[in-house]
Amino acid sequence: MPQNGSTQTIETLLKEKRTFKPSSQFQKNAHVPSFAKLQALSRAAAKSPEKFWADRAKDLLWMKPWKKTLVWKPPFAQWFVGGKINVSVNCLDRHLDGPRRNKAAIIWEGEPGDVRTLTYLQLHREVCRFANGLKALGVGSGDRVVIYMPLVPEAAVAMLACARIGATHSVVFGGFSTEALRDRINDAQAKAVITADGGWRKGAVVKLKDNVDAAVADCPSVQRVVVFKRTGNEVQWNAAKDVWWEDAVRGQSAVCPPAALDAEHPLFILYTSGSTGKPKGVVHSTGGYLTQVAMTCKWVFDLREDDTYWCTADIGWVTGHSYVVYGPLANGATTMMYEGGPLTPQPDRFWDMIERHRVTIFYTAPTAIRTFMRLGPEHPRRHDMSSLRLLGTVGEPINPEAWLWYHKNIGGGRCPIVDTWWQTETGAIMISPLPGATACKPGSATFPLPGISVAVVDKAGKEVPLGEGGYLVINKPWPSMLRTIYRDPERYKSQYFSQVPGVYFTGDGARRDKDGYFWVLGRVDDVINVAGHRLSTMEIESALVSHPAVAESAVVGRPDELKGQAITAFVTLQATQTPTPVLKDELCRHVAKAIGSIARPDEIRFTDALPKTRSGKIMRRLLREVAAGQGVKGDTTTLEDFSILTKLQSAEDE
Ligand code: WTA
Repeated sequence: MPQNGSTQTIETLLKEKRTFKPSSQFQKNAHVPSFAKLQALSRAAAKSPEKFWADRAKDLLWMKPWKKTLVWKPPFAQWFVGGKINVSVNCLDRHLDGPRRNKAAIIWEGEPGDVRTLTYLQLHREVCRFANGLKALGVGSGDRVVIYMPLVPEAAVAMLACARIGATHSVVFGGFSTEALRDRINDAQAKAVITADGGWRKGAVVKLKDNVDAAVADCPSVQRVVVFKRTGNEVQWNAAKDVWWEDAVRGQSAVCPPAALDAEHPLFILYTSGSTGKPKGVVHSTGGYLTQVAMTCKWVFDLREDDTYWCTADIGWVTGHSYVVYGPLANGATTMMYEGGPLTPQPDRFWDMIERHRVTIFYTAPTAIRTFMRLGPEHPRRHDMSSLRLLGTVGEPINPEAWLWYHKNIGGGRCPIVDTWWQTETGAIMISPLPGATACKPGSATFPLPGISVAVVDKAGKEVPLGEGGYLVINKPWPSMLRTIYRDPERYKSQYFSQVPGVYFTGDGARRDKDGYFWVLGRVDDVINVAGHRLSTMEIESALVSHPAVAESAVVGRPDELKGQAITAFVTLQATQTPTPVLKDELCRHVAKAIGSIARPDEIRFTDALPKTRSGKIMRRLLREVAAGQGVKGDTTTLEDFSILTKLQSAEDE
């Protein structure tokens, strides 16, 4: 939490007044069809959260009922204690006895354009065979397995196979380097690694097996490496450890009895770095995790039997775990997966896929939306996207301008948008509109879901008045919360439960407006202090993006003798614009007019692109160093593109 002598938290300047109500057409068939219904659910859940969550858990198939819904020894929670359950059974077996048996579970498209569809029956078979293959390789319940794969159906098969036998998986995003992979394997002490020869990304092969070879050389815990053949590139072979996927499943039975796992059994570990420090192994459970993921996927995306649901996240991120694989499959939905780059071979790849597969629900990140804005609306306009009925966003605050663009150009003005706030640590969506119930305000994630208790507080933990900014905290345990940091419970306590007394601290700033809507203001580390005013960089960025010439911006503070911090704005322009000093002045005036002269940037720097983490979040920490005129220090292994940073630095040297 930032150090600040005053009791003041964060000042907020952005005022967004537009609202969008759900259409009666959408409400007619929605799972939660009105705001009154949502409020009733929230009230009942607030009165008795344990009963609310126990009712949700009853929608799953349990092998043995739980004895106690919640055991809360702060800050450690256990949900559905004594219950036995298997995630793969809930995602697969229970759909096989009815009409979903031959329904598409996964529709997959590779970057080169190859398409595969796996029905529930087929997916079940693949999972069981691979689970038996893993067992034959000596992997069992309690072992850790690292999955480092392209986004191919076998990545989901590998996750579900681990879940079937009780091995804890840890998916490492295929874009991570050898070093990042090695550190994660070693922290998890993984017994096996599942990878592929390569994967397609932006027209080229990413040689995953090569990275695994280099990493595993320094990973004594790894006994076996399973290699799926995707790209056919040459690979080095270590006969003592390596086995081809096809050999691992050859002759394996399609029957694999599921392990009856404790509700608290660790389903997965997912490493998250945030913007600084050693990656944390966030540990998620089995029963509680699946309960909240299944429920939120059904309600927030209003899943129906005939939907084609597409979440564009990679399985290397929590969004890929909860809303590409586990959430949709637990609901018996059809989930779409796409291997490659969003602009490959053309900037309209996504829109073309939506048209061809008749996608009905589309869930992506603000960073992607801003990229599409920059490229212009002519790309989506070339495609018939009338199949879409619902849009979603996740990962960062969405600027109102980007929300409106998404609504108009992708949603055809007809699709509700669910702006879903959550974290790797929360496991599932926490704050979000329900599309048939909530009137949306562009840029606001609106209200916490039923059963979730959040607040905006000052450092002492006291709720701040409506309209004021503060720290976003979660007051009560929730079923899909992280259980600990792997092998580091002390870090779990200090990271999340020591900053604000008695509650989980999210690390985000937020405010509630007079109607009670939550507005997430970004990470509190990104707050800047200008002449004693603590400003959210996100709001200044939103003001910049609302200028027609601007595509994207990142605002940081740099030390200033007079004001404490001065505002530096890095700006990328729309494809049609040229950077000029006149435009700089105009943008400064525009911000002053939109949100006040206190927020007027002291300096604007134009750049081709912004440095981002691989999951698309802007790396303001690096920009702060650039803005302060220091060389860039610290860990850059999560950078999307090093050349961007070099460009920024050389721009500075000029
Ligand atoms: C940010 C991604 C505003 C926030 C699921 C959070 C958001 C961090 C939103 C978690 C949203 C995510 N509005 N901010 N709708 N969704 N964030 O762990 O700062 O990759 O703390 O999980 O992303 O990122 P993570």
